[in-house]
Amino acid sequence: MSAELTPAGLREIAERFRERHRTGALRAVMVAGSGIRLELPGWEAGEEIALAEVFPFRLHELVGHRQTMTLWRRGQETILAMNGRLHLYQGYSPAEVAAPVRLAGLLGAELMLATNASGALDPDIPAGSLVVVSDHINLQGFNPLVGEWGRSFGPPFPDMSEAYDPELRRLAVAAAAAAGFAVREGVYAAVLGPSFETPAEVRMLGQLGGAVVGMSTVPEVIAARQMGMKVLVISLATNPGAGLVDRPLSHEEVLEAGAAAADNLRVLLGLLVQRMFPGP
Ligand code: HPA
Repeated sequence: MSAELTPAGLREIAERFRERHRTGALRAVMVAGSGIRLELPGWEAGEEIALAEVFPFRLHELVGHRQTMTLWRRGQETILAMNGRLHLYQGYSPAEVAAPVRLAGLLGAELMLATNASGALDPDIPAGSLVVVSDHINLQGFNPLVGEWGRSFGPPFPDMSEAYDPELRRLAVAAAAAAGFAVREGVYAAVLGPSFETPAEVRMLGQLGGAVVGMSTVPEVIAARQMGMKVLVISLATNPGAGLVDRPLSHEEVLEAGAAAADNLRVLLGLLVQRMFPGP
């Protein structure tokens, strides 16, 4: 059964979720991109919850993406982790894409930590590089605050001047260095997809100041910022942007590169969570 998601409906969903899953002190929501399995040292993976059991809207299948969330626990504390994410290009509305992050915000999360896959716009970013996102350019043509959503969860015109928390970015760069991974910071250009960019678009996005291009994350970031959550996003550049090398792009290539670099990203995320939440 599918039904429309509304702000009031989402508040009810959050209350039911809090009671059923005893979310306690929800510290953060994590949104992992293509093919990343989390390991959070000091935390136990609790129940895996199907999105279909939580949200009223119809789910769309996508190869390589699971449609569940895992509630990680450490004493009374929890972290809600999305296993995969919802994308606008699958046909989800901006409100549906942002629903898991808003759910976490309603349950008290003060932090959103996301990863995604992207194409490099700069020939100096080799495939497999990690990029700590410093800012974004939203070219998706959508915003999750349009209409009544914009009036329901925070200021209708939220400031985006430091959307990607400078302190968390410093922490991420330091944690990556400690783990022995080279990272750089850069701007994430967000497009709707699902077709990859043309070479002319890749050149344009690079000239606009983008370091990487991807098809996700920005709706969640905007929704999180409206609710006052701090945001950290780490992008895995899985391939050079179209036209930067002389071969076509494929979804399989993105998934394969994601799987190859997933170990690095898993280690980095574990280290970051340890440093962000050192515990009792
Ligand atoms: N473009 C857009 N999104 C992507 C890409 C790309 O080249 N690679 C992975 N996600």
